[in-house]
Amino acid sequence: MARGEGFGKVILFGEHFVVYGLPGIASAVGDKTIATVEKSDKYEFIDNRPATEGYKDKKQGEIERSMKLILGFMKIDVEKTPVKITLSGELFCTSGIGASAALATSVARAFSEYFGLNLNDEQINRISYEGEKGSAKTPSGIDNTCATFGGLLWFEKNLGGGPNRIDLIKIKQPIGIVLGSTGLSSVTSEVVEDVRKAKGEEQEKYERIFREYVEVVNEGKKALESYDLEKLGELMDKNHSLLKEMNLSCEEAEEIIGAAKSAGAPGAKITGTGRGGYVITLTPGKELQEKVAKTIEAKGYRVLKTTIG
Ligand code: PMV
Repeated sequence: MARGEGFGKVILFGEHFVVYGLPGIASAVGDKTIATVEKSDKYEFIDNRPATEGYKDKKQGEIERSMKLILGFMKIDVEKTPVKITLSGELFCTSGIGASAALATSVARAFSEYFGLNLNDEQINRISYEGEKGSAKTPSGIDNTCATFGGLLWFEKNLGGGPNRIDLIKIKQPIGIVLGSTGLSSVTSEVVEDVRKAKGEEQEKYERIFREYVEVVNEGKKALESYDLEKLGELMDKNHSLLKEMNLSCEEAEEIIGAAKSAGAPGAKITGTGRGGYVITLTPGKELQEKVAKTIEAKGYRVLKTTIG
């Protein structure tokens, strides 16, 4: 049996902006999706990943498209060489955590091992990007990059089609975060399309938002490198207010953010597609992390405590 892993991720700065070639900062989280591939007499795809209610139903089309794209790109014919693919791992699947990229990376790695292809990380990342096209028609590539390489990354999509800019950001020590799940799943390709439409219709507004965002992400990198977590939190708040102006938040996300801020989190924002999915809250120190997690849970939302960097 062959096995592969892919990391989940959180976007600290830049969801949606990265689609247009602006920089983003994202980090892999410790939780992973695991794929196994084994010989079978027919093609089977078993999804045992833990997930929000309704996630797998809503994503079924995307998952099927992704698998087709991955198999096509790797030139694997599962009619001729039937295999059983099983997904598992502790990564709790919901929008905003890069679950589709973690799936694609884990499957690509498992196939690489199963067929003895010996693919390197660059090649795995390329396949994972192909799989991502099944969920976002024009994916920025930030999710598959985190899923494959791990770490805290500065990311810029090369709109010309050349290699993306990916720089590792080094920080003094990992920073605690709490992710609060809204329990809602949104469809990335639809939301990305809505943003594209709104950007075309309200050009001036979006130009201003994009300008303000560039300042936020540049300052954000500095705050990470100088380990100024108060400033980092402030910038996350600012990024969130820009996303809110782009109509990407929702009631549940606002409630989670309110709870986190009231418990003392220096910053909180939606992460990923938005209109559901996860909220990322900055919680340096175990004590604050516990307090914020409990406060969010008390409002009835599921949390995930982890670190970035
Ligand atoms: O919801 P997620 O974790 O798949 O993140 C999507 C991020 C977007 O910027 C909205 C799309 C993209 O391709 O980068």
